[in-house]
Amino acid sequence: MIAKQLLPVVLAAAGFVSAQSSDKCTQDTFKINSQADASGLSGCSTLKGNVVIGENSDNTIDLSGPKKIDGDLQCKNNGKLITLKSSSLGEITGDFLLQNVTILSTLSMSGLTSVGSISWTSVLELQKLGFTTGLSKAKSVRIADTKIDSLDGIDMTTVALMDINNNHRLVSFDSGLTSLTDTLNINANGAGLQVKFSKLKSVANMTISGVSSFDVPSLSTINGSCAFVENDFKSFSAPNLTQTNSGSILSFVSNNALTNISLPAVTKLGGGLLIANNTALEKIDSIPKLKQVTGDIKFRGVFNTVSMPALDDVGGAFDVVSTENITTSCASFDKLAPAKYVKGGNGHIQGTYTCKGKIENANNDTSGQTGKSGTGSDSSGNKNAAGAVTVNGLTAFGLVAVGAFFQLL
Ligand SMILES: *[C@@H]1O[C@H](CO)[C@@H](O)[C@H](O)[C@H]1NC(C)=O
Ligand SMILES: *[C@@H]1O[C@H](CO)[C@@H](O)[C@H](O)[C@H]1NC(C)=O
Ligand SMILES: *[C@@H]1O[C@H](CO)[C@@H](O)[C@H](O)[C@H]1NC(C)=O
Ligand SMILES: *[C@@H]1O[C@H](CO)[C@@H](O)[C@H](O)[C@H]1NC(C)=O
Ligand SMILES: *[C@@H]1O[C@H](CO)[C@@H](O)[C@H](O)[C@H]1NC(C)=O
Ligand SMILES: *[C@@H]1O[C@H](CO)[C@@H](O)[C@H](O)[C@H]1NC(C)=O
Ligand SMILES: *[C@@H]1O[C@H](CO)[C@@H](O)[C@H](O)[C@H]1NC(C)=O
Ligand SMILES: *[C@@H]1O[C@H](CO)[C@@H](O)[C@H](O)[C@H]1NC(C)=O
Repeated sequence: MIAKQLLPVVLAAAGFVSAQSSDKCTQDTFKINSQADASGLSGCSTLKGNVVIGENSDNTIDLSGPKKIDGDLQCKNNGKLITLKSSSLGEITGDFLLQNVTILSTLSMSGLTSVGSISWTSVLELQKLGFTTGLSKAKSVRIADTKIDSLDGIDMTTVALMDINNNHRLVSFDSGLTSLTDTLNINANGAGLQVKFSKLKSVANMTISGVSSFDVPSLSTINGSCAFVENDFKSFSAPNLTQTNSGSILSFVSNNALTNISLPAVTKLGGGLLIANNTALEKIDSIPKLKQVTGDIKFRGVFNTVSMPALDDVGGAFDVVSTENITTSCASFDKLAPAKYVKGGNGHIQGTYTCKGKIENANNDTSGQTGKSGTGSDSSGNKNAAGAVTVNGLTAFGLVAVGAFFQLL
């Protein structure tokens, strides 16, 4: 009785095993703990399935043989692996994930040119990327908490996401990227990190902090929110930027060495502009062609001059407060204020209007919120409806982009 009942189960199990082993190059998961496990796969030209290196692996794993992993290559919570290499691997279609691989110091994948994504976090001893041919294709690259001092080998021209944070030896990053379609985060890397994107033409969302220079000579389009927070750069210049797209917030916050924000070609900002707590910025006078801002303008600082001579249309609030006397600068904007804020104003600024100097704690407000210190009631008047919408836009920036920034710390 018992035997009869068990038999079909045993047969089924045996059938399952032999079906799997009939193609040893195709499995749900290839578990690798030893060099013998890796060598056993060297005859496969493609590994179909996820390759997972276990927590207690040998010190060295050489995955030479396969040219392609049609799946992920993963190693997590491993305190044993010192060297991971493959002289043959050219492509990983899924994620190349290294997470909390604490003593891995040598990674060598000389032929790797294409991965779905790179996600390396807490690979504390890793010093080199080890992509000698150069990685020319990846949708996203996240490298955090490593000893990497160079990103040479990251050679894509386009990528959706790039997040480089807490790599304390990284002091220069020279990239040939031409477009970033989703997100760029650079933050808390080596002191004085110099970033050069000499060919970058378009970016979407971007948060940059802890850099001492950020060169974007070709940047022409911003399609998302860009925040420059707590950098050491003395000047920022985007000579080829003409406009930001709808909903973009461009912000410069707490960059304490910044003396010059130069946007010579910008004519239109499709969202807002926030400049706050840049305690060396005495003049905001290098945005000469800016004519139209769909959202809010909010400036807080120690500046004595604000000059935007072409400005003629602000859909949201105009909220400018300085520790210094800005009476002369304010006079030029008063003309654009709604009449209920400034008698005789033409209302080309449609939201709340504030322009005030000699306010001691001006730098104390770096939030994206505007209009709080507005001098009049704005409960009526149809133009304010537009103002209210865009005020929310800038508020959303404060929560979303700054929130994203702190998450990365
Ligand atoms: C990181 O991996 C080590 C083993 O190498 C483990 O002891 C530790 O708990 C892991 N840390 C986390 C946060 O998972
Ligand atoms: C930028 O971020 C915002 C808020 O997270 C998001 O709604 C938007 O889709 C992003 N833009 C791009 C191009 O990824
Ligand atoms: C800036 O834009 C102009 C006009 O589109 C172009 O000719 C020039 O090459 C760009 N400069 C850089 C550094 O990309
Ligand atoms: C801007 O980003 C949005 C997603 O947030 C996308 O739908 C749109 O196509 C992008 N526009 C450009 C010009 O890249
Ligand atoms: C600001 O930077 C731009 C571009 O680098 C430069 O042309 C301009 O002279 C600078 N202005 C000041 C006041 O330093
Ligand atoms: C601010 O500057 C203006 C113009 O130079 C001057 O008339 C005014 O008295 C100054 N205000 C204060 C409080 O110093
Ligand atoms: C901002 O300034 C006010 C008045 O000087 C002070 O009471 C408050 O604590 C300050 N807030 C911050 C966050 O520094
Ligand atoms: C202003 O910037 C300084 C650094 O320059 C920073 O310590 C301070 O916290 C910032 N203030 C606010 C309100 O963010």
